[in-house]
Amino acid sequence: MLHSLAVDAALSQKLAPCLACHGAEGQSQTENVPSLGAQQPQYTVIQLFLFREKMNIADPMNDMAKGLSDDDLQAIAAALAVLPAPQPPADPGDSARLDGARALAEQNHCNVCHRPDFSGQNNIPRVADQREEYLLKTLRDYKTGARHGYDATMAEVLQPLSDVQLVELSYYLAHHR
Ligand code: HEC
Ligand code: HEC
Repeated sequence: MLHSLAVDAALSQKLAPCLACHGAEGQSQTENVPSLGAQQPQYTVIQLFLFREKMNIADPMNDMAKGLSDDDLQAIAAALAVLPAPQPPADPGDSARLDGARALAEQNHCNVCHRPDFSGQNNIPRVADQREEYLLKTLRDYKTGARHGYDATMAEVLQPLSDVQLVELSYYLAHHR
């Protein structure tokens, strides 16, 4: 009991700066900073590992992950997974754009790997109601190779897609209901 309280206190102390930037309730209010609420823990562990080992270079995350042990990665990922999922914006979005982008997502099997509700599974992230500008930036980064995933899946998936299509897919995922 005492032991687990001490562990919890140490974990909250480690998480405080993270949540100050990423949003305490799982939803980021900051441009280009992703929401982390209800994220798949296996995906989070892998991403923090890639940042820590500088296999994926992204400011400020290489510095943020530097001092974390493997146990820290697991504990942080478990804590983030139980934060509330990000919510869709109040504006439902343009239905013609959303319909077009839904078809595009289905053609490219985004909904197969990321699940029909885009909540993700295992090493495949939740992308439902992620921030739109972050989604677009990260899709562009996969496509150019600026972002290194754990494997080449996303770079391959995005290969045939145009930049306009990446814009539409980001719009769709950010307005998911
Ligand atoms: C000053 C703001 C800031 C702080 C503090 C911060 N982050 Fe981040 N974090 C970012 C940004 C910006 C990105 C996006 C990097 C990119 O890919 O361009 C990110 C990305 C991530 C990702 C990947 C999310 C995804 O959807 O792929 C995880 C996980 C993460 N941060 C966890 C943490 C943890 C854990 C801490 C604390 C140890 C932390 N962050 C501290 C800004 C911050
Ligand atoms: C074959 C399975 C698969 C398919 C199909 C797929 N993804 Fe992914 N996606 C992944 C995996 C695995 C990752 C994590 C890669 C990594 O390690 O960075 C990922 C990561 C992402 C991310 C990063 C999320 C974040 O929080 O940083 C976005 C956005 C994304 N995918 C969108 C899409 C879109 C849009 C499509 C359809 C065009 C798609 N994915 C199709 C497997 C897939």
